[in-house]
Amino acid sequence: MNDYFRNKIQKELENIKDMECQNLINELKKEPYYLENKLERYLEYSKVNNKKKIKDIIREVNSNRDFPFYHHLISAEPSKKELILVNKYYYLKDNYIPPLVEMEKNYAQGLNRKITKETYYYFKAMVNKARQDKIILYSVSGFRSYEYQKKLYQDYVLKDGEKVADTYSARAGHSEHETGYAIDINTTFSSAHFEDSKEFLWLQKNASKYGFILRYPQDKENITGFKFEPWHYRFVGIKVAQYLKVHALTLEEYYAYFVENK
Ligand code: DAL
Ligand code: ZN
Repeated sequence: MNDYFRNKIQKELENIKDMECQNLINELKKEPYYLENKLERYLEYSKVNNKKKIKDIIREVNSNRDFPFYHHLISAEPSKKELILVNKYYYLKDNYIPPLVEMEKNYAQGLNRKITKETYYYFKAMVNKARQDKIILYSVSGFRSYEYQKKLYQDYVLKDGEKVADTYSARAGHSEHETGYAIDINTTFSSAHFEDSKEFLWLQKNASKYGFILRYPQDKENITGFKFEPWHYRFVGIKVAQYLKVHALTLEEYYAYFVENK
């Protein structure tokens, strides 16, 4: 083949590549949670995940899943209050303690009975309404300090090894229990199958009315970084909780689009 034809073929291939890339960009831009400042990352991520749906490319890159868990660390922002994001990328400092109140014993059991004031206000309202419906709810774990979380995680690593522990327990600095906006309700034992209880059903139906979300749902492990936890609820305020429920979004996805980029 002479140079003329070689160059011509080369040019045509480049044109095809450009067109494919432009098509991909057009598809990405049609997605509801597309973020312009993440375009390069979407393109990079879709190169190595070319079987993934466009929707998942957006969802995963917005949630930083183009980096491995516990890499690409970002300082969490307490100024975002009930919308603070703490997960396997966003961390709190080891001395972080939010303003807390102590829950009364008829609302909470165990050692970790502290929580932020606003979370307690809405939790009490939720528990009181549940009681009228003959559903008994109580907290078994609210705020946990960095030191407490460190010990908890280390104990799980000793018991199950790091790889397994990482699927259900956050490393110190990375647990949203350290924010004071998270509550474990009634149990923290997966063996208890809380998801089969009438209490869980009630929460499924009503938690968002009080500003709480099920933080680690069953089919979102890849985004949240944690296995399904039917007992772990997170206060985000009523409007946001209802939005997340209606749109089946995680806090990670919401945060990228509505909080961090605002
Ligand atoms: N079990 C949750 C993920 C935590 O450790 O914060
Ligand atoms: Zn929890």
